[in-house]
Amino acid sequence: MEKLIVKGCGKLSGSISVQTSKNAVLPILAASILTEEKVVIRNCPNITDVDNMIKILRSLGCGAEKQGGAVIIESAGINKTDVPAELAKELRSSVFLLGSVLGRLKSAVVSQPGGCHIGKRPIDLHIKGLRELNVRIEDYGETHYFDGGNIKGGTVRLDFPSVGATENIMMAAALSRGKTVIINAAKEPEIVDLQNFISAMGGKIFGAGSGTIEIEGVEKLHGCEYTPIPDRIAAGTYLAAAVITGGEAELFNCRCEHIYPLIVKFRETACYVECNNDKIYIKSPKKLNCFNAIETEPYPGFPTDLQAPVVSLASVADGTSIVTENVFETRFKYAEELKKMGADIIVRDRTAIVRGVKKLNGAPVSANDLRGGAALIIAALAAEGKTEISEVRHIDRGYDDIAGVLNALGADIRRVIT
Ligand code: EPZ
Repeated sequence: MEKLIVKGCGKLSGSISVQTSKNAVLPILAASILTEEKVVIRNCPNITDVDNMIKILRSLGCGAEKQGGAVIIESAGINKTDVPAELAKELRSSVFLLGSVLGRLKSAVVSQPGGCHIGKRPIDLHIKGLRELNVRIEDYGETHYFDGGNIKGGTVRLDFPSVGATENIMMAAALSRGKTVIINAAKEPEIVDLQNFISAMGGKIFGAGSGTIEIEGVEKLHGCEYTPIPDRIAAGTYLAAAVITGGEAELFNCRCEHIYPLIVKFRETACYVECNNDKIYIKSPKKLNCFNAIETEPYPGFPTDLQAPVVSLASVADGTSIVTENVFETRFKYAEELKKMGADIIVRDRTAIVRGVKKLNGAPVSANDLRGGAALIIAALAAEGKTEISEVRHIDRGYDDIAGVLNALGADIRRVIT
């Protein structure tokens, strides 16, 4: 089993070029099968979610290869419509293939995708939305059969601005005759990136980011080369890592406007933050103030994926921070691990009350999920002594060499196999 051994370190300092966004790349890889022509996705991060998505695309009969930092997809040979259950368990993003397989082949079979430690992760909104496009759906236990033989444009009003449901409906509608309107669509930057990718293939899709998306189905889409946006969650994670050590960092290849709610919160803690276009500079204050209340919300609210990293930061800030998780039902599992390091956190339902302590202590802890695992690394950087983090596979799903990135700023993180 792989572990990370993190030694509490001094102030981090240096520059980081932020990886490309996992949550942009995954739906774009799925959407690449909407054309039978070659698609090149540039600058893909070296993370296991991308590796698993490549495996799934190959299992459908597509060609999918990593070449340097790019992934090349050729789906002319696609010959299956069902996402293998064992891979669907492994990867939540397998559910994105629902929309693209349905759009391309007019039928799809998807087993209930992998839930994880942050909640049930149902797909009822995906199903309800696709029904509005005249897709017939039959369920047998955990497996859903989608018949898109008569798929056509329609109006979908999402009860909740689900990122995945919005993306699946965009992909299914892109090649379906007629006009589709998605109301109460998710507004995340990754939704805009998916729209830009589908447009680059010749799709007619407008309004992403506004909450109402219009798609005019077309007969065919053509191949393209595309570079997805930077990872706003990785950027926020590295900013938190620099701040918890009392250090500073300069981030390149990141979009300030994509993490503006986090920047506002960092300024509340007396950090100095400078933003210009694709560069962010942050410098920690002598004394880190606690956060006033943080409420996670769909974009453009405070991102749920940065909730765990900021709770780590709040654990050593001066005062008490209140963090409420409004997007997922159980996204505080990592707090139990932080408490093993001496953090003072009380979790009540969807709210964490975090009383800052003077020092955290290194301890053996275990990652439960991707962002909770990153939170443990952040806490360990500021802890007295050594922290051993197991179940590192969760972290490897979404961060491209997080240890190497932080070690370049002065951290001491070693990956060991036990
Ligand atoms: C995407 O997940 C991201 N994953 C998540 O990032 C992110 O936290 C989430 O959006 C919210 O921003 C990818 O893009 C691969 P949702 P997704 O559908 O699409 C409920 C990370 O760490 N819901 O917006 O699954 C759901 O249970 C990951 O990078 C339904 O009830 O998120 C959740 O409570 C974690 N029924 C809420 O909506 C549905 O049909 C938000 O889910 C769909 C969702």
